[in-house]
Amino acid sequence: MQTNMENLKAEVKKQLAACKKIQDVQDIRVKYLGKKGEITGLMKNMKNLSPEERPAFGQLVNATRTEVEQWIEARREEVKAQELAQRLQSETIDITLPGRISAIGHEHPLHITRKKMEQAFLRMGFSLVEGPEIETDYYNFQCLNFPDDHPARDMQDSMYITDSILLRTHTSPMQARVLQQHAANEAVKVIVPGKVYRWDYDATHSPVFQQMEGLIVDKHIRFSDLKGMLEDFLREIFGASTKVRFRASYFPFTEPSAEVDISCVMCGGSGCRVCSHTGWLEILGCGMVHPNVLRLNGYDPTVVNGFAFGMGVERIAMLTYGIDDLRLFYENDMRFLAQF
Ligand code: PHE
Repeated sequence: MQTNMENLKAEVKKQLAACKKIQDVQDIRVKYLGKKGEITGLMKNMKNLSPEERPAFGQLVNATRTEVEQWIEARREEVKAQELAQRLQSETIDITLPGRISAIGHEHPLHITRKKMEQAFLRMGFSLVEGPEIETDYYNFQCLNFPDDHPARDMQDSMYITDSILLRTHTSPMQARVLQQHAANEAVKVIVPGKVYRWDYDATHSPVFQQMEGLIVDKHIRFSDLKGMLEDFLREIFGASTKVRFRASYFPFTEPSAEVDISCVMCGGSGCRVCSHTGWLEILGCGMVHPNVLRLNGYDPTVVNGFAFGMGVERIAMLTYGIDDLRLFYENDMRFLAQF
């Protein structure tokens, strides 16, 4: 009896020692102490014993049971600690591995250029306004003193949506809108950046491009104000040594009108391929606001006058960065864009 019990205890010990997982310990508990377990089963054997033998046997079994229970609990704690240690070991993160670097985007070269232009004008006291890209014939042409037979009004040159609605061909319709939004003869000093649309596509023309318009209306505005302001602006963008030249030109909404050239940014004026060996690059259109435009939009040209100018953002970006094909700005080729 006694030796049987010792053998059993020795067996339990051996098996516990071999446990690797909590589940193994749990299995041993079931095997020996469970409802159908071996030690539990010994109690059921009591009925086969004589009444004298029973108390001693009962005590022995109970003592064994308590002992085995303690071993199992102790072993369970041990195995649990081992399992945890193993997990900590196997699940450690190697923080010395380099992280994954996510690519950070940056501003588009046209956006950088536009911002530089805007900042220059904002410093001179202009306010920035924006207008609709889908425009009426009324604002795009009529209010700007365009004659009925002007080529820009032709279906061939402008993108019409209906007979009287088109994609604006310039930012100038905002001259009319801004004047109409103000009280008669009220002073105005705005720039208008935005997209414009023309039926054109080659290395220097895109059907969608950006312009920046400027308009000042006030008392006693002179052509020399226009000249001085544009010269300051162009020297800020292209450098202090840039030469600026005004050439007489024609726009229906300005009189007199001028086209403005800067000394070539590539050759400095000596003549090269970029400036077609003239030494000059055309950069913008401008002029004194035509009296008809003031009149058509609620202003009195005998009381106030003003000047206006308009330029292409792409052209300025091409010249600042030395890019010879405007289409590159719109092709989204990362090899090109990543250079700025
Ligand atoms: N709107 C003209 C163009 O697109 C430019 C311009 C603006 C000229 C303002 C004079 C005054 O060519």
